[in-house]
Amino acid sequence: MRIPFIAGNWKMNLSVKESVDFLKAIKGKLPDPKVTQTGIAASPLFLESMLENRGDMPLIIAAENCFYEDEGAYTGEVSPKALAEMGVTHVILGHSERRKYFNETDDIVNRKVQAALRNNLIPIVCCNETMSRRESTDRISWVVSQVTNALKGITTDQAAKIIIAYEPSWAIGSGQTASPQEAEEGCYLIRQTVADLYSDELADGVRVLYGGSVNDDNAQQILQQKDIDGALVGGASLKPDSFLGLANFLQNK
Ligand code: 13P
Repeated sequence: MRIPFIAGNWKMNLSVKESVDFLKAIKGKLPDPKVTQTGIAASPLFLESMLENRGDMPLIIAAENCFYEDEGAYTGEVSPKALAEMGVTHVILGHSERRKYFNETDDIVNRKVQAALRNNLIPIVCCNETMSRRESTDRISWVVSQVTNALKGITTDQAAKIIIAYEPSWAIGSGQTASPQEAEEGCYLIRQTVADLYSDELADGVRVLYGGSVNDDNAQQILQQKDIDGALVGGASLKPDSFLGLANFLQNK
């Protein structure tokens, strides 16, 4: 059984102090992690204090990115080795904003996935889809190729640990969420691609998240879809109340 996962992606928002205030506000209000897992991906500046202030809360603390080398002369980059050493367990890789503003290619994403796994970090690999792609005929091959390229050289055991997110860039931060059917279609396609690359059994266990303008109002319908195992949430994860509303979606059904 796939446990739903609600992950916030704070992007370049909030401050260290605000991140601690956020944790105080959600203390004692998260769901049982056997029912729904929850996590927040935050700036590397916040991670140490968030890990300290998490206490015994069942909240996964994730990074929003890491580099593909463990250490060296890479000014400004975030080491996957150092992230793992400090207690971070998950890392978002290949987010559409990284691809768009920092020219991350499928090859770079693949190297980062390998680096994360080498350091026992669980990658949350994002696949995007622009509106022009959505309307074009190669739409399916575009999503399939992102998954295939991200997983190049990844063994079956490693692939079983990975989380994949379908995040159409036209739905990110736009308030224009994909319909539940569109979101399901993207997540189904990702799961089928994993099945083709590995096996039906492995694909059946891999969690696939949807991301793009998810909020309290639209989450129930999206999260009911067969191949959607949770959400990667930007804007609506910045406020404790809306994050908690999403985190507790099963209880609020
Ligand atoms: P929004 O929820 O703000 O659309 O952002 C989605 C996202 O990019 C999560 O990674």
